Amino acid sequence: MSQKNCYILGIESSCDDTAAAVINNGVILSNVVATQKIHEEYGGVVPELASRAHQQNIVPVVYQALRKANIDKKELSAIAFTSGPGLMGSLLVGTSFSKSLALGLNIPLLDVNHMQAHILAHFIKADGQTAPNFPFLAMTISGGHTQIVLVKDYFEMEVIGETIDDAVGEAFDKAGKILGLPYPGGPLVDKYAQSGNPKRFKFTKPKVSPLDFSFSGLKTAVLYFIEREVNNNPNFIAENLEDICASIQYTIVDYLMDKLKNAVKQTGIKEIAIGGGVSANSGIRNALVNAEAKYGWKTHIPKFEFCTDNAAMIAIVGELKYKNGLFASNNVVANARMKI
Ligand code: KG4
Ligand code: ZN
Repeated sequence: MSQKNCYILGIESSCDDTAAAVINNGVILSNVVATQKIHEEYGGVVPELASRAHQQNIVPVVYQALRKANIDKKELSAIAFTSGPGLMGSLLVGTSFSKSLALGLNIPLLDVNHMQAHILAHFIKADGQTAPNFPFLAMTISGGHTQIVLVKDYFEMEVIGETIDDAVGEAFDKAGKILGLPYPGGPLVDKYAQSGNPKRFKFTKPKVSPLDFSFSGLKTAVLYFIEREVNNNPNFIAENLEDICASIQYTIVDYLMDKLKNAVKQTGIKEIAIGGGVSANSGIRNALVNAEAKYGWKTHIPKFEFCTDNAAMIAIVGELKYKNGLFASNNVVANARMKI
């Protein structure tokens, strides 16, 4: 098969989502995600349980992705998989499975960096999605990472700012936990925030160098604030949930926007793309849309299904690598701490 018309299977298993997708010339034919519910009762991802669930899910998820794409595994041109960063046990399941399948089908293997994939998801061809022009700034905001990346080309990226402690998704999830919301708290904080008053409670924004982030202080501030208020009124959370969520979200979004403004000032680049699970957040989405008129930025927000962990983003990187002959050797290993 020519490299022009290729079918790539992407496999993602870096954290707690087992995902598979098929891409054909930039267009996603299927995008299947099995989210592991087991972690909810523990209030966070339990690595050992995640690996076991991946092992259980991976065959049915891949099978479903092929069926939805309406292709047979024999039509695949290559297998792309997440080789890092992530939880080692989780990565090993996807890595070993992908190697075996590629070997069995006698097709090439493509290793994909999960953080690059969150950025390159913008190059998936989909309605309402525009590909950024190089160079652009990418802000990856997820449960595991918070970075500002200068993207010079598909595989030429430089991290110019990052968190010195918690990731922004963790800040959302920890705030959710303090408020008694189920894990992961991020989407729920967002939901309640939408009908609350963002200016009701004030939280100070942590001070670190202009392009770096810090979220551990915010978590402590929220914790002390809630403890104090609940001491005075045991129903404080229930009576004020929307306003508390709106105020926390406002603080976080404003902080993210401050950092982006600093990055634009430092680099002179006004084209901005976001990626990672927190890009699903309505506050950051609105702030970026407003920034187009306010600061003359060109902003790119991925489609919702390409924001949180998914295999479509692995498949697009796989396709870019495939078309450039960037294959993995079959002794490639997972790397939990892989850098961009
Ligand atoms: O990219 P992702 O699916 O997994 C990681 O690689 O971490 O990101 C998951 C994170 C979680 O912390 C989750 O709470 C957060 O993204 N998240 C949100 C929203 N949707 C997902 N945080 C705030 N608002 C949302 N709407
Ligand atoms: Zn992710």
